[in-house]
Amino acid sequence: MTQDLAPTVRPSADARAHTDGWWRSAVIYQVYVRSFADSDGDGIGDLRGIRERLPYLAGLGVDALWLTPFYASPQADGGYDVADYRAVDPLFGQLSDADDLVREAHRLGLRVIVDIVPNHTSDQHAWFRAALADRPGGTARERYHFRPGKGERGQLPPNDWESVFGGPAWTRTTGPDGESGEWYLHLFAPEQPDLNWDNAEVRAEFDSVLRFWLDLGVDGFRIDVAHGMVKAAGLPDIGLSEQAKLIGAQVLPFFDQDGVHEIHRAWRQLLDSYDGQRIGVAEAWAPTSERLALYVRPDELHQAFNFQFLTCDWGAAPMRQVIDESLAATRSVGAPTTWVLSNHDVVRHATRYGAGDEELGLRRARAAALLMLALPGSAYVYQGEELGLPEVVDLPDEVRQDPAFFRGDGQDGTRDGCRVPLPWSGEAAPYGFGPGGSWLPQPGRWRELSVEAQSGDPRSTLELYRSALALRGELPGLGDGEMVWLDDAPEGVLAFSRPGFVCTLNTLGAEVALPVPGRPVLSSAALEFAGGTVRIPSDTCVWWAV
Ligand code: NOJ
Repeated sequence: MTQDLAPTVRPSADARAHTDGWWRSAVIYQVYVRSFADSDGDGIGDLRGIRERLPYLAGLGVDALWLTPFYASPQADGGYDVADYRAVDPLFGQLSDADDLVREAHRLGLRVIVDIVPNHTSDQHAWFRAALADRPGGTARERYHFRPGKGERGQLPPNDWESVFGGPAWTRTTGPDGESGEWYLHLFAPEQPDLNWDNAEVRAEFDSVLRFWLDLGVDGFRIDVAHGMVKAAGLPDIGLSEQAKLIGAQVLPFFDQDGVHEIHRAWRQLLDSYDGQRIGVAEAWAPTSERLALYVRPDELHQAFNFQFLTCDWGAAPMRQVIDESLAATRSVGAPTTWVLSNHDVVRHATRYGAGDEELGLRRARAAALLMLALPGSAYVYQGEELGLPEVVDLPDEVRQDPAFFRGDGQDGTRDGCRVPLPWSGEAAPYGFGPGGSWLPQPGRWRELSVEAQSGDPRSTLELYRSALALRGELPGLGDGEMVWLDDAPEGVLAFSRPGFVCTLNTLGAEVALPVPGRPVLSSAALEFAGGTVRIPSDTCVWWAV
């Protein structure tokens, strides 16, 4: 017998609402604002576009959304270069649109998290312009990291740090007289000067910015580069090149310094001074699960993205190891684990897992989604993964906008391929994204992957996500809590139980036969049953009620 599995009951918004520590179980949907939905036809997604599509997100069954930066910005790095933290960029709308969006989301039972970018500003921020206009040693320069250069004429950067996007992490200033002057630090693009968090004004300003958005009603912040705000005293040389490759693998003098935790503790107090369980989510690349767990100690942030899980290779052994390490580390500080498979900075997992084979990649991506949503804790879904979107690997160079692409030897510079606007409906590009075009071209075959094309098709990835999210709300054993490995599973198969529930993931390239562990409620591929045995196809994940 072949069985398609889709639940029939959808929980109401109330059934999904968590009153105690909502973030501990929440599924949070990442909206990459410029690529979600465009309301005005300029080819760029905007806040009004998101508001119009909120019923889609409520129907999908997520608990909250995270909006990438929509603040006033020259867009040198997709808005992660903020010129005014209290203003909405005209590309995305105006402040009243942000207000309307938060209010409407709340009406639909969805919480809203916004991005905050505290490690650096835009070079067009009033503070940086004042810093450039100031003299060396002037107070306006103290909000950033300005230093004289090395070498006889100061012609060499102050230290050997490299930008994450490639090239030196320092740029030399030129004075009004045309003379070369001091250098300033930018761990990312030159248009993103790093702030000096030893400066009291910087700290006070960000407290005020957080309050501005909390007063508007947001439910929390995703904190960009939460591991980078504090630099080792004296800005010491590293002595190695290709430093971008060391990020997340070792502590560097500019990342994961112990001093950042004091900032997060202060922010936690600020968040706790508001009602309604406002949260802080760390984008922190730490070398180990243990160091990552430090960000979610009880008096620090609520969540930290689990990038060890995101970067883990496909396979039962490595996945089990990462899951065990992550759960042990977060359990040691009493925090939930925050699972994530994709975001706007990495190759989409439907492509990553396939290593050149799209069909295999999608098959594994579907299975990985069911694994992630069955694990204890919270999970993030990156827009489009619910459609099984692949990475767009063949964007022409002339449409690319990722600053890393232009700076070469740092990050691989291919982040545009995961940022292509979503296909919603219709037969031709931009597939319902908006009334105009789309800022990056969508592949023609995305017609078949649109929300409209997949809705109602029980075999589609969209319906798989809808079913999984509905079941997550129905089955009390899912979300926050414990899990136990079932060690009688054959090699290559991950099996674990949670109260009233079993999850089995066959990571092998061949089917496996197992004794039926319970009532099948959802599967990423069709199953075959014979007597008391189930044949689970290759790269397939199954949820069972027991
Ligand atoms: C992490 C963000 O996710 C990424 O898009 C950005 O380029 C860097 N931080 C710098 O802000």
